[in-house]
Amino acid sequence: MAPGNLAYDQIVAALRGAGCVFAEDEATLIVQAAEGPDQVASMVRQRIEGRPLEVIVGWAEFCGLRVAVEPGVFVPRRRTEVVVREAVARARAGAVVVDLCCGTGAVGAAIHAVVEAVELYAVDIEPAAVACARRTLEPLGGRVLEGDLFAPLPATLVGRVDLLVVNAPYVPTDAIALMPPEAREHEPRVTLDGGADGVEVQRRVAAGAGRWLAPGGHLLIETSRGQAGRTVEAFVAGGLSAQVQRAEDVDGTVVVGSAIGPARRGGAVTSD
Ligand SMILES: C[S@@+](CC[C@H](N)C(=O)[O-])C[C@H]1O[C@@H](n2cnc3c(N)ncnc32)[C@H](O)[C@@H]1O
Repeated sequence: MAPGNLAYDQIVAALRGAGCVFAEDEATLIVQAAEGPDQVASMVRQRIEGRPLEVIVGWAEFCGLRVAVEPGVFVPRRRTEVVVREAVARARAGAVVVDLCCGTGAVGAAIHAVVEAVELYAVDIEPAAVACARRTLEPLGGRVLEGDLFAPLPATLVGRVDLLVVNAPYVPTDAIALMPPEAREHEPRVTLDGGADGVEVQRRVAAGAGRWLAPGGHLLIETSRGQAGRTVEAFVAGGLSAQVQRAEDVDGTVVVGSAIGPARRGGAVTSD
């Protein structure tokens, strides 16, 4: 598409022709975000080429917040709002919150927006995600650390974490090829790949969580409806209780659990 003055209707038609279901909404966001006609044309071209809209305009809406999204960073999805809702329902003022596998930091930011005086940490293995999350979370007083799961957390957090909120990659390796090109081609594999059965990273999180959780603290891991049973098994293997919570309005699923102690390991598991 050549740069120039594209009329709104032309933008909508171009986006619709490229398969954008919400072409009008996307056109409006592009026009609002662009600084002039050339940038409008460039953004429309990128969208037609399949780049996620959120990366093009530089932000995603999540739990009513505008969260910065940078290239190469996982775009927060609405279904992840279930993690925030369930975390907030269990939070107290001054809670220690760790957003593991934080991506943009959307989950931590949304909890910070609702719960008073949280002590917030976030971790990601990808430098691009860490940079993006720092932009969002550091002004809120959060600390963003780079590394593999729990490895970069300060030892002072052992036994002190009230809410360990996790949206780890959980797409089974073979299913990545079936994802829409928007995700498959624009989100790094490390943000998606959950191993052969989709639960490999979750299993590592559940196995390590007990050491970090405060007494009565909770681990919350997003999963899919179809994989929830395997996520529950990972919690149980990690010595945690496990309860499946669904939010139909956002089609989100999260497993929530607490340490139940060695005597009850593998014990009661509830799910809806
Ligand atoms: C599905 S994305 C979720 C991002 C964010 N929590 C959200 O909901 O928008 C998974 C994130 O986990 C990160 N990740 C993958 N493996 C990791 C690991 N071993 N340690 C830390 N982060 C990891 C990826 O870089 C990616 O940002």
